[in-house]
Amino acid sequence: MRYLNLVFAAFLLSLVTQSAAAQGFSLASLPYPYDALAPVIDEQTMRIHHGRHHQAYVDNLNKAVAASPALAELSLEALLTQVSKTSDAVRNNGGGHWNHGFFWQSMTRPGEGGAPSAELLAAINRDLGSLDQFKAAFRAAGLSRFGSGWAWLIVTADGKLKITSTPNQDNPLMDVVADRGTPILGNDLWEHAYYLHYQNRRGDYLEAWWQVVNWSVVSSRYAEARRTRE
Ligand SMILES: [Fe+2]
Repeated sequence: MRYLNLVFAAFLLSLVTQSAAAQGFSLASLPYPYDALAPVIDEQTMRIHHGRHHQAYVDNLNKAVAASPALAELSLEALLTQVSKTSDAVRNNGGGHWNHGFFWQSMTRPGEGGAPSAELLAAINRDLGSLDQFKAAFRAAGLSRFGSGWAWLIVTADGKLKITSTPNQDNPLMDVVADRGTPILGNDLWEHAYYLHYQNRRGDYLEAWWQVVNWSVVSSRYAEARRTRE
C-alpha cells in the first residue's frame, strides 16, 4: 500500500513538472515580504515592480518564445548568451526576466545584508581600490547611465572584478554587450524601481540601496564564479 502511494505521488509530481514545462517561464515569489526592504524601497514600489513589471517581462518572454519554437528548448541563460540570434522581444523580455530575478535575490532587509566575504573584499581592494571606492564608482556608474538600464559588478573572463552598466534590459551575459562577464551584483536604474519614493533623485536611491544589499548572496556568487573558472 505504501509503495502504491509512492508511485501515485511520483505520478502526480510528473504531471506538475510536465505542466510547468509546457507553461514556459514563470514568476517566482520574492524571497521576502513586499514590505521587507522599507524604508529603503517602499512596499508599493515592490508590489508594482514585481507583480506588474516583472510579470510583464515573463508574459512577453513566453509570447516571444512561443513565436519561435526552437527557442522553447533553451534555458533562460542559454537564450541570453546567444541573444544576438533572437528577436528584440526575447532580448528585452528575457533580459528583463533574468535581471529582475537576480535583483530580488541581491537584497534583504535593511541592515541584515552582512558584509563581503574576506575573499570578495580582497578582490574588491585589489581591483577597485577599497569597498568605499567601489561603492562610489558603482553609484557613479548608475548616475551616468542615461535613461533606463542597470549597473553591474561582474567577474571578467580573466577573473577580475569590474563595474559596468548596460542600457534597457541588457546584461553582461548577453553576446551583444561590450563588457561581458559573470554578474555578482546588479542594481535596477529604471525609474519604476525608485520613482514613487525618490522621484528624480536617483543618486539618493543609489546611496540608500547599500542598506539592503545582501552581501552573503553576492559573496556566494563570487565564490561560485571563481570555482567555475578553476
Ligand atoms: Fe525593474
